[in-house]
Amino acid sequence: MKKTLLITGGAGFIGSHVVRLFVQKYPEYKIVNLDKLTYAGNLENLSDVEDSDNYIFEKGDIVDKEFIQSLFKKYDFNGVIHLAAESHVDRSITNPMEFIMTNVVGTVNLLNVAKNNWSDDFADKLFYHVSTDEVYGSLPETGLFLETTPYDPQSPYSSSKASSDHFVRAYGNTYGLPFIISNCSNNYGPNQFPEKLLPLFINNIRNNKELPVYGDGLFTRDWLYVEDHARAIDLIYHKGKNAETYNIGGFNEWTNIDLIKVMCAQMDEILRNDKGTSEQLITYVKDRPGHDKRYAIDASKIKNELSWEPSLQFEEGLQKTIQWYMNNQQWIDNVTSGDYQKYYMEQYG
Ligand code: NAD
Ligand code: DAU
Repeated sequence: MKKTLLITGGAGFIGSHVVRLFVQKYPEYKIVNLDKLTYAGNLENLSDVEDSDNYIFEKGDIVDKEFIQSLFKKYDFNGVIHLAAESHVDRSITNPMEFIMTNVVGTVNLLNVAKNNWSDDFADKLFYHVSTDEVYGSLPETGLFLETTPYDPQSPYSSSKASSDHFVRAYGNTYGLPFIISNCSNNYGPNQFPEKLLPLFINNIRNNKELPVYGDGLFTRDWLYVEDHARAIDLIYHKGKNAETYNIGGFNEWTNIDLIKVMCAQMDEILRNDKGTSEQLITYVKDRPGHDKRYAIDASKIKNELSWEPSLQFEEGLQKTIQWYMNNQQWIDNVTSGDYQKYYMEQYG
C-alpha cells in the first residue's frame, strides 16, 4: 500500500538508520525526512539513499508552526515517526532551554498540526513518538523498567522527553489522535555523534587522548545496536497497537567501566597495540551532576507481542561499530571540526 511518512530527525544517529531502512524496504512509500541539521544532524549519514526516488529531504525546525503546517499540506502524510530531539544529557545540563524548545514545544507543535490536519478522519493515521528509557528515572541494583513503571525523570533531558511523552498521550486521550510511544535503552553503532560514550572514547583512543570516565565508572546502561532499534521501530509502526507503549532494550547490561575495558581491548587488537595500551588512557573525572545510576529494560512485551529480539551479540556489535569508525575516519574528522572543539573544551577542560 502507498503511504507518505514524515520522519523527523532523520539526519541524526538513529533517525538516519530508520530512514535508510524505510527507504530501502518500502519502495512504494514516500519518505520525507525533516531535519533542522543541528550539530547532530548530518546528511552525509544518508548519502547512500539520498538519490532514491522515494526519498525527500526537507530542512526545517519542528518548532516552526507555519513550516510544519505547510509540510502537512504539501505531502498529506499518513503517519509521523518522530525522532527529532536534543539528545545529549550533558548538553541538557548546561543548556536546558534548548531541550524544552525542541523536545517539548517542538513535539506539541507537531502533535497539534497532525491533529488539525487529520481530525476529519483519523483512520489509518499514526503519530509514533520515539522516546527513551530515561523517563523512568534510575533503578537500584535490581529490577527492570516495565511499560507500567511510573515516570521519574532526573535530568533536564529526560524531563523534556517525559514531558513530550505525556503530551503525546494527552493528545490521544483528549482528541483521539492515534499514537504509539516506544522507550528504548542506550543505542550504539555507526554515525553516532562523538559526544556519546562509545564514539567519543573510540575517537579519543585513535587520537591518544584521555578517556574521561565519570565518577566511579560503576553506572549501568543497557546497550542495543542501532539497527536493531530501527527494526523495532519498523515493527512497531506497522504492527503495534494504538495507544500502547513498547519498551525496547538489548537484554545487555554493562557497567561503564566494564564496557570501556572491553572496548579498549578490541581497539588494541584492531590498532595492533600491545595489550593494555588503550586502558592506560582511562582517567576518572568529576561525575555528571544528577547522574542516573542504572537503567535496565524489560523488553518482553515487544518480544512476546511482536516477536522482536536483538539480532547481534554485544561483542559482535561492538566490533562492527569500532570497525565502522576506523573505516570512516573522515566522517569523524568532519563532524568534530568547528564547534565540536569548543564543546569539548567546555565539557572536559
Ligand atoms: P541525535 O542527536 O543523533 O539526532 C537528533 C536529530 O534531530 C538531528 O539530526 C538534529 O539535527 C535533529 N533536530 C534537533 N532539533 C531539531 C528541531 N528543532 N527540528 C528538526 N530537527 C531537529 O539523536 P539520536 O541519538 O539519534 O536520538 C533520536 C531520538 O531517539 C531522540 O528522540 C532520542 O530522545 C531518542 N532516543 C535516543 C537513544 C540513544 O541512545 N541515542 C535511546 C533512546 C531514545
Ligand atoms: O538510555 C537512553 C539514552 O542513552 C538516550 O535517551 C540518550 O539520548 C543517550 O544520549 C543515552 O544517554 P546516556 O547519558 O546514558 O549516554 P552517554 O553516552 O552520554 O553516557 C553513557 C554513560 O557513560 C553514562 O553513564 C555517562 C557515562 N559517560 C559519558 C560520557 C559522555 C562517561 O563516563 N564519560 C563521558 O565522557
